[in-house]
Amino acid sequence: MMIRIAKMLLASVTMALAIHSPISAQTGDADAGKQKSATCVACHGPDGNSPLDQFPKIAGQVPGYVAGQLAMFQSQQRNNAIMLGMVGSLSEQDMADIDAYYASQAMSAISITADQEEAARAGEDIFRAGYAEYSIPACMACHGPAGAGIAPSFPRLAGQHAAYIEAQLLAFKSGDPGKSNNAGYCISPFRAADQGAGPVHICAPVSSWKQKQKTGSGPVFLWSG
Ligand code: HEC
Ligand code: HEC
Repeated sequence: MMIRIAKMLLASVTMALAIHSPISAQTGDADAGKQKSATCVACHGPDGNSPLDQFPKIAGQVPGYVAGQLAMFQSQQRNNAIMLGMVGSLSEQDMADIDAYYASQAMSAISITADQEEAARAGEDIFRAGYAEYSIPACMACHGPAGAGIAPSFPRLAGQHAAYIEAQLLAFKSGDPGKSNNAGYCISPFRAADQGAGPVHICAPVSSWKQKQKTGSGPVFLWSG
């Protein structure tokens, strides 16, 4: 049942993304992108690993995702006053170059404390199996088995700041289409939560999701390594 829902969602996402296909990252030049990202450093850090958790990490994002989001900020399909001010003069080539630069970096790992482990495990359960009670599909159907994302449209979540993940989930759940072009695809699972649990119930475990770097095999979730 859950797998069927996830497959249906995936099919509709794939169709929607085929129509609004993001700018190709392959046309980007990472060295040029590094130069062009000088203004981004203040919030997203020198390599895209933002030190403050209200700013998303963009280092190591799946190729194409950063350019796609920049285009959406510019067209205001995704509404954010801060980012709107950042993309004003960027051309498609600039976006592709910036995309190539961040995609060439690695998203840094996050570690958790012992008292966060229980919540993180609950988050992992939702990630892997969904939340049948509220018709929430498994996140890994779209975000990949280890949360590494699937290029170009399904963002990496592993290593992302928990506070940012939580803020995005709440934004999707709010139903505000301006929060994300593709909000519909994340929103539908979270809308279901409105029938029962409040945001805390659904988002608290997910927000505590963390991962660590396992040598040689890329990012894995803390409890699976
Ligand atoms: C003053 C702080 C600030 C600066 C400077 C800034 N950003 Fe952002 N950026 C943000 C915030 C805040 C968000 C989260 C927006 C939201 O919640 O929708 C964001 C989101 C993003 C996202 C979406 C990430 C995701 O996971 O969906 C991308 C991509 C991005 N910024 C790229 C850039 C680039 C490229 C630059 C430089 C040209 C830049 N930003 C400069 C604050 C900043
Ligand atoms: C059917 C596919 C699909 C499923 C299932 C799915 N997502 Fe997503 N998710 C997406 C897409 C597509 C985006 C990018 C939206 C955009 O372009 O702004 C996204 C974006 C996100 C973001 C924002 C990331 C960022 O960098 O801004 C978070 C957080 C997220 N998803 C968490 C989840 C969680 C948690 C689950 C499971 C409970 C989940 N998603 C299930 C497709 C999916």
